[in-house]
Amino acid sequence: MFFERSRKGEHALLIQPHAGGPVDEGLLEEFSELARSAGASIAGVLSARIDRPNAATLIGSGKLEEVKAAADATGADLILVNHPLTPTQERNLERALQRRVVDRTGLILDIFAQRAQSHEGKLQVELAQLRHMSTRLVRGWTHLERQRGGSIGLRGPGETQLELDRRMLQQRLESLQRRLDKVQVQRTQMRRARMRSEMPRVALVGYTNAGKSTLFNAMTGAEAYAADQLFATLDPTVRRIDLAGGGAVLADTVGFVRDLPHALVAAFRSTLSEARDADLLLHVVDAADPLRDERVAQVNEVLAEIGAADLPQILVFNKIDRIEGGAPRLDRPAEGPPRVWLSARDGVGLGLLLEAIAEVLGLQRVQGRVHVPSRAGRLRARLHELGAVRAEQAGDDGWQIQVDLALVDAQRLAVQAGGTALQPLIDAVLPPDLG
Ligand code: GTP
Repeated sequence: MFFERSRKGEHALLIQPHAGGPVDEGLLEEFSELARSAGASIAGVLSARIDRPNAATLIGSGKLEEVKAAADATGADLILVNHPLTPTQERNLERALQRRVVDRTGLILDIFAQRAQSHEGKLQVELAQLRHMSTRLVRGWTHLERQRGGSIGLRGPGETQLELDRRMLQQRLESLQRRLDKVQVQRTQMRRARMRSEMPRVALVGYTNAGKSTLFNAMTGAEAYAADQLFATLDPTVRRIDLAGGGAVLADTVGFVRDLPHALVAAFRSTLSEARDADLLLHVVDAADPLRDERVAQVNEVLAEIGAADLPQILVFNKIDRIEGGAPRLDRPAEGPPRVWLSARDGVGLGLLLEAIAEVLGLQRVQGRVHVPSRAGRLRARLHELGAVRAEQAGDDGWQIQVDLALVDAQRLAVQAGGTALQPLIDAVLPPDLG
């Protein structure tokens, strides 16, 4: 009976604090999506203008009355606040509202707890959850009736820890950290082994729900978990892919989300390091998302945070089946990363992506004889620097050079180093209609 009641799922009232002016619709939409991902139904949404954050309750007393009335009227049993709350604020709000209050970090942690699949993922979630809760726990949750199972913010591996006293909690944190360290050492060793095999590493990154897992499955034929929910991917999954000119290792990573709490960036360091250690990032974008440019910028910000800003990227515009006249295409702009338009769901355009990957990884090579005129001494020097010269013969007006170099390098030289002599060789590799 008790169990059944809590299983019904929670009815959440969403509070969106803002600094004034119109409330950002994108923010609200994402917040609602997070709440639904955690399994809550949405009782209502209230915005709360905050000029100066109230140290005790974040929102002012008038607003607090309004929230209480709305919660009573809608039968909400949970209040979600899209803002970090101090433990004191959380406790005071819970007292005043007579309901559980969970902030943004607590909500995201809850989703992570539900999604964690691997041993390491579970440990990381538990650790982050305990850290987030520890200050709250030691002050006690007794002011509210404890609920069991299926309760947002209380769920997951951390749930059983709620009754522990401070000392046991500390011991638990330390033991978790030790186990996690061990798993991470193992992971590093595995990664080293992979590096020794000299296969280039390609990582899928992108805003949550862009379609990374679907693309991963389409490219590898693997059954990674895909669902129309945030964070379907929590643990990195790694598979081999075959490309023209060699193989590569493809890793799926956790979806990024706006304002990912810093505590989580740290907790999911190893998941994200899959991206940092890659040779190439496939930055997956939902082509049909009206906010797609903003999403791209947000993902790039997180990449900068984990030190992956300078890695080569391919922008993958996914879900072209959802845009007017969407057709598979590979663009190679002079500035910025190559762009591939495809549909992971329909398996359309995957060949173009594989082609782009092979190009960027330098698996596609350009070979042949070129005439380098005397005035193009810089090109000759660059070819030597790249180790691309197989044989060389000086003549009256320059050199005859037998070259062998990565297509990407040849393209770069053709643009930057006056290497027009290389163009016929490039054209021989790349059909001009794709160029
Ligand atoms: P996270 O794990 O949350 O980061 O998500 P993800 O980026 O891995 O996305 P996922 O592959 O789970 O896909 C999200 C949703 O988009 C699912 O409902 C997919 O079926 C859908 N989807 C993925 N690719 C396509 C596509 O090419 N076209 C359409 N229409 N839907 C797609």
